[in-house]
Amino acid sequence: MRKKIVAGNWKMNTTPAEGLELVKNVIAQSAEVCECVNFIVCPPFTHLSQVAEAAKGSRVAVGAQNCAAEAKGAYTGEVSAAMIASLGVKYVILGHSERREYYGETSATLNKKMEQAYANGLTPIYCVGERLEEREAERHFEVVKAQIEEVVFNLTAEQFADLVIAYEPVWAIGTGKTATAEQAEEIHAYIRSVLAEKFGEAAESTPILYGGSCKPSNAEEIFAKENVDGGLIGGAALKAEDFIAIGKGF
Ligand code: 13P
Repeated sequence: MRKKIVAGNWKMNTTPAEGLELVKNVIAQSAEVCECVNFIVCPPFTHLSQVAEAAKGSRVAVGAQNCAAEAKGAYTGEVSAAMIASLGVKYVILGHSERREYYGETSATLNKKMEQAYANGLTPIYCVGERLEEREAERHFEVVKAQIEEVVFNLTAEQFADLVIAYEPVWAIGTGKTATAEQAEEIHAYIRSVLAEKFGEAAESTPILYGGSCKPSNAEEIFAKENVDGGLIGGAALKAEDFIAIGKGF
């Protein structure tokens, strides 16, 4: 049985006070959802510490949205994986399409970030996904394959056993346009087959999350697919009721 995960990527939203309120509501309402669902919230760095403190001892785990590629030193504005891990944070989102697109993150940078994450005991949520023009040109399989080969294939078997993948088609992020459950299953199954080429049987245990306009009204249908193990939620993670309702989709 693979882990079922519903993770919220808050992106650059919420003040510390709002974030604290949000996580408290998520924790309180999580009692309504099957224990089998693992919730993760990923707030901005400014309130990572407070949110992690509030979530301590609850069923809600906390993740960061990014980490530095270097361990420490003169890197103004960066936050290291060690700093993040010291707060009791367990996960880090890496390779989000917004980081790739707006901050020029390449596979070379992401390899370093992955190393930093593992060196500090953080579980990466590694994001892959094609742009609209790549989907239209039917290049989505090859794009996603390259994003996996260039980064995930460099992991050791031990590191790979502690990895979450998120498939997020760029054309579905924040657009209200969701991939159909069939489109998600098709590419999730493909991703698992690519992972199996390198890591064999272990790929059967890797949680693969869907992200892109996932909401209470479509989560159940998408999560019902065999190779969809949960979701990475943006907009709908900013309202505790919606985030929890997505968790009920399992
Ligand atoms: P939306 O759910 O707002 O489309 O965002 C998805 C996402 O990018 C999560 O990382």
